Amino acid sequence: MAFTPTNPYTAALTRMPELKFKNHSFPLRQYESVLDCLLRNAEPVPYACKAGMCQACLVKAIDCEATPESKKWVKPALQAKGYTLACQWVPEADVQVALPSVEEFSVAVRIRALKLLNDCVMQVLLDVCDPATMFAYRPGQYLSLINPQGLARSYSIANNCEVDGFIELHVARTLHGVFTQWLFTDAAVGTFLHMRGPTGDCYYHDAFEKDQPLLLAATGTGLAPLYGIVRDALAKGHTGAIALYHGGRSIAQLYYVAELKALARAHENFTYCPCTIEASGLPAALTGKLEQIVAQGLDAATLPQTLVFLCGAPDFVHDMRKRAYLKGARSANIFCDPFTERKVVSS
Ligand SMILES: Cc1cc2nc3c(=O)[nH]c(=O)nc-3n(C[C@H](O)[C@H](O)[C@H](O)COP(=O)(O)OP(=O)(O)OC[C@H]3O[C@@H](n4cnc5c(N)ncnc54)[C@H](O)[C@@H]3O)c2cc1C
Ligand code: FES
Repeated sequence: MAFTPTNPYTAALTRMPELKFKNHSFPLRQYESVLDCLLRNAEPVPYACKAGMCQACLVKAIDCEATPESKKWVKPALQAKGYTLACQWVPEADVQVALPSVEEFSVAVRIRALKLLNDCVMQVLLDVCDPATMFAYRPGQYLSLINPQGLARSYSIANNCEVDGFIELHVARTLHGVFTQWLFTDAAVGTFLHMRGPTGDCYYHDAFEKDQPLLLAATGTGLAPLYGIVRDALAKGHTGAIALYHGGRSIAQLYYVAELKALARAHENFTYCPCTIEASGLPAALTGKLEQIVAQGLDAATLPQTLVFLCGAPDFVHDMRKRAYLKGARSANIFCDPFTERKVVSS
């Protein structure tokens, strides 16, 4: 057999970088992210979107520097501690990572109440165990909820904890969904969890003019952030017209109908438009696909000043964003939170 001498210089150049995690060392494949390498090696690390959005995959870089790309959406205070997103980090040299320590920046919470808002949406109220550890957030932003098994998922915040004294989330039951299966079957009042956050710019910003029109549209539990934003805007004395569209396949998939109607009666600048694909029989409900109904109501004259908020199913959010932009909404005035692609259990 012919002997081929190895050139140590070339070998060093072609050797794939290694990822150190706990007591293991894993060779990274070409263009492989830290998250994919850990998952390929059956390490049970939290993740959800793999798209740099949910921040569930935060890891700490140990004695090495993460790429600027992977740190881009991480808060500066966390960056300073070495945190970065494992799903966005494709290392070109040897690296070592550790999972975030729960104590370092997670907040312990306890389930105060669980209530079905319809057949497939659970209202989750959380008490913060030590209010001094609570982070500041704006209603409409989202947090990472971590269950006792260490599984993390993003959920949008529907209320103002400073006002109510608890955190409100709306969670849709997901077909084959690991976290939601746990929440709907095993979680109970008194269960302890952790959360991290906040993330996202889908909220009522202080810089908004009080008389700017607000247009908000969501499918399913995309209502959670919008419910938070509408109530925040009204509490802050917003005077411009506020229109909220909420869409579902049938009336059984909507929720908070009575609450939103009551809010509309109490505030003449607020309009609530429930929309269903199937005819609902609900007075004032609109029938058809949500994006078509909202698009029909777009007013080219006021759209350049309108602040647009879109949440829920990614297809809806991306389609609606395009329609609003093409009709005249300014890109900087469109705030979106596309949720992770999933199949929600239908009633
Ligand atoms: C910014 C943001 C905000 C969000 N806010 C909310 C919110 O306020 N409310 C809310 O309800 N959700 C929200 N989500 C979505 C949420 O984070 C979770 O994605 C969702 O709850 C599903 O989690 P899960 O663990 O139950 O599902 P996963 O286990 O992650 O599964 C997701 C999907 O993967 C597929 N899948 C998984 N396993 C299988 C299998 N064995 N066979 C076939 N298909 C499979 C299914 O389609 C399933 O529906 C948000 C997401 C983002 C990114
Ligand atoms: S999995 Fe990395 S940001 Fe969501």
